[in-house]
Amino acid sequence: MCPGSFDPITLGHLDVVRRARSMFDEVVVGIASNSAKSALLAVDVRVALARTALDGIDGVRVEPVDGLLADFLRDVHANAVVKGLRGGADFDAELPMALMNRHLAGVETVFVVGDPALAHIASSLVKDVARYGGAIDDLVPAGVVEAVREALGRRDDT
Ligand code: PNS
Repeated sequence: MCPGSFDPITLGHLDVVRRARSMFDEVVVGIASNSAKSALLAVDVRVALARTALDGIDGVRVEPVDGLLADFLRDVHANAVVKGLRGGADFDAELPMALMNRHLAGVETVFVVGDPALAHIASSLVKDVARYGGAIDDLVPAGVVEAVREALGRRDDT
């Protein structure tokens, strides 16, 4: 399983999912809520964007995760959680979650090193760049630019 907030999905996420698929026959991309973050895009939008981006990749499917990841891991009989690392800060953030998921569900986390050419891409930065008018079309898969712009526009209207 590749869990995350995917708010929005980026080219970095696609790289990690492809690497996960090279190690496992089946990969479930789980779109979950991170209580430490306030999401820009609704879960159903994030799921739709991820499904479009990963369409046609055999053995990969996208599902919303409603609630605790550990419960979902058990429900889908996941063998492992796969997470990408861009650097040490990612590891520091991921380690407690890996330990907690092992504690709750007995599932191991496998860390993969992503493509260094994509190491500057983070969903939070993508949103920040878009918020201030920068170009994000070479950071995210097709369809995401419009969804982010629309959501940012709606937020500014409120
Ligand atoms: O992309 P993110 O925000 O780093 O992903 C973190 C995420 C969404 C995978 C994590 O917050 C999560 O698993 N959320 C679901 C609720 C849960 O199980 N929380 C306890 C995590 S140990």
